Amino acid sequence: MKPEIETEHACKGTIPKNVPRMVRILDVIEENPFVKTFLLDIKMDALPGQFVMVWLPGLDEKPMSVRGTSEASPAVKALLQKAKLKPNSEGAVAITVEARGPTTKELLQKKPNDMIGIRGPYGKPYSIVEDSIMVGGGVGMPPVAFLADILKKRRLLQGARTKERLLFLDQYEDMRISTDDGTLGHKGFVTELLEEEIMKKKPKMVYACGPELMMLAVLRICRKHRIPMEASLERYMRCGLGVCGSCVCGNRVVCVEGPVFNDKELEEMADFGKFALTKSARKVTLKEYYSG
Ligand SMILES: Cc1cc2nc3c(=O)[nH]c(=O)nc-3n(C[C@H](O)[C@H](O)[C@H](O)COP(=O)(O)OP(=O)(O)OC[C@H]3O[C@@H](n4cnc5c(N)ncnc54)[C@H](O)[C@@H]3O)c2cc1C
Ligand code: FES
Repeated sequence: MKPEIETEHACKGTIPKNVPRMVRILDVIEENPFVKTFLLDIKMDALPGQFVMVWLPGLDEKPMSVRGTSEASPAVKALLQKAKLKPNSEGAVAITVEARGPTTKELLQKKPNDMIGIRGPYGKPYSIVEDSIMVGGGVGMPPVAFLADILKKRRLLQGARTKERLLFLDQYEDMRISTDDGTLGHKGFVTELLEEEIMKKKPKMVYACGPELMMLAVLRICRKHRIPMEASLERYMRCGLGVCGSCVCGNRVVCVEGPVFNDKELEEMADFGKFALTKSARKVTLKEYYSG
């Protein structure tokens, strides 16, 4: 049976969040050679850490973090204003996408006025604690940047392999940067910047999103300094509704119980930092998973 398609006009009405809505792409921003941000014509009450399922009809449906909404995120609002865009749905949502496999590569070919399917928002968001430090790596940056837009008192750190993979440089002047090869900012890992910042002033909370080994290192640092932390996990997802079991990590169903988990929950998850399920539900090491 073909899934029902809602038109963009239907966005103004009340549509169950589990029904995909076809929404117009308002604008596409090239963040770096591998990553683009899409501004979507849809009003949504999403919180930092939540995700949407993005549907390319005839291809697949994939989870993407909400990078921001025009209502809650000044950075997303500024992007709309800069491009002089007026969404039909009186609101906009941004997602930031890196090319990995077939669906994300196809998505990166999309242009303004193309239509894509969206359902959500889903998942448990980050808690909101002022006086915190945020650590983002790669396409872990979008949910962390959304959180940075909402918090008044926060420090933002971003790590990447090299300068050309960094995101949102022009949007956060106070963001501290690290690159593995030293092409911009601190040469080394972003966790070294985190240690430095903690020594300057202990935060009330540390938030992380990025490669799982980075988040594991953040968890260990926070445990050492007795600082609460939360991380947003990425697992292979199909339904986003807690039905199919694709996204299980240890004893947790990531799409409904997460994707954001706190330090205690992460420590109890046997697979965190070690194993993930592939598309075919085979349990493999994270190294094998990311090279797949
Ligand atoms: C809650 C959540 C939020 C996400 N937010 C973003 C985001 O903001 N921006 C973004 O670019 N990507 C995000 N992802 C990852 C994104 O969903 C995958 O890159 C995408 O599903 C890949 O689909 P594909 O068809 O292009 O490639 P596939 O052929 O499905 O996968 C290609 C390879 O990518 C890796 N991969 C696939 N799915 C995932 C996954 N869920 N997590 C980690 N690695 C994966 C695997 O190594 C896989 O072999 C998120 C994932 C989750 C679970
Ligand atoms: S994606 Fe189906 S249970 Fe989580």
